[in-house]
Amino acid sequence: MWAVVVAAGRGERTGLPYNKVFHPVGGEAALMRCLRALERARVFEGFVLVLGETDYDAYHEMTRSLGVPPLVKRVVTGGADRQQSVYNGLLALPEGVDIVAVHDAARPFVSPEVARATVDSAIRYGSGVAATRVTDTIKRVNADEIADETLVRSALRAVQTPQTFRLDWLMQAHRDAAERNFRATDDAALVEAIGKPVHLTIAQGGELNMKLTTRDDLRLGQGMPRVGTGYDVHRLVPGRALILCGVEIPFEMGLLGHSDADVAAHAAADALLGAAALGDLGAHFPDSDERYRGADSMALLGEVAAKLRAAGWSPYNIDITIVAQRPKLAPYIGRMRENLARALMIGISQVSVKATTTEGLGFEGEGLGISAQAVAKIIG
Ligand code: CTP
Ligand code: MG
Repeated sequence: MWAVVVAAGRGERTGLPYNKVFHPVGGEAALMRCLRALERARVFEGFVLVLGETDYDAYHEMTRSLGVPPLVKRVVTGGADRQQSVYNGLLALPEGVDIVAVHDAARPFVSPEVARATVDSAIRYGSGVAATRVTDTIKRVNADEIADETLVRSALRAVQTPQTFRLDWLMQAHRDAAERNFRATDDAALVEAIGKPVHLTIAQGGELNMKLTTRDDLRLGQGMPRVGTGYDVHRLVPGRALILCGVEIPFEMGLLGHSDADVAAHAAADALLGAAALGDLGAHFPDSDERYRGADSMALLGEVAAKLRAAGWSPYNIDITIVAQRPKLAPYIGRMRENLARALMIGISQVSVKATTTEGLGFEGEGLGISAQAVAKIIG
């Protein structure tokens, strides 16, 4: 089972100076979000990504900061219209694929359930096309914007992607349409035109599977935010390294712990897990587990971000306060932010680290330990 993801349009109706599939929605590029959502469906072996000729740089820029989605096995160049782009994608499929899902990168909110429903239907009937019931009443109008006819709403469906078909049907439909110079805005119309049954599927999340088309859509497509907090304390002792947000700081003492005791990374991880209601760091990486002895907490933070993404969330921003009487942390803040941004795969402007003393008061003030607090926002 493969998917062809088409991203080779220009997104002209958004008015953006770049292709809308690179516009951030919910903290990451729409295209990336879309690919990750399809990966979560766990039914695909690979994706053919269809890119615009002039968008390769933007794609490489995106994957440089966010990583290459593992299922993107092939990248090909699109054509003059969507139909041609899909066809180019179909030609790039490997041998032996029997069913293919075609999906618009401009639909980044596709749910795994919606994708799976189309696949199940295609396995059973040869076709499965994501659809929703229509909630607005739809009228046909004449050239003067005067209503000619009110359509029977219960018999109407709004059709989306993914559109999943037996590959032989879809190839035949595309070849036939090309021969007859028949152009359509979706693949289902081509398959209908060769007389094969097009089954529509209605699944959970369908209402949210909107296509980013206009500037207003971009505003609506910001995703649901959540926030979480994290707090951690470690004791300062002689003979240990002092590591904060992955930066080793020269000091006569260091933090005691089973892992590298990076108190700031731990607070950050708990804030992210808290926002997603996914428990805490101790539950995911127990300190009774020998594997985590001396563990690099920034690597664990990277794993936390991956767990969030697997659950459909993206880190949006994080703000950490480290409370320490000594040493002076200001010279290391820049490197701390860089490390956090890399571990979470977000921009450095979305990461803040602050340090404060407590004027000698409390355990931090007496130099007995260091504490850290974090607040994180995630979007899903
Ligand atoms: N698409 C494509 N190749 C084209 C045209 C469109 O791969 N030549 C893709 C788009 O990238 C999008 C999907 O088809 O993911 C749906 O098309 P549409 O919403 O029309 O996107 P654009 O063509 O990019 O937008 P516009 O029509 O406003 O320029
Ligand atoms: Mg278009």
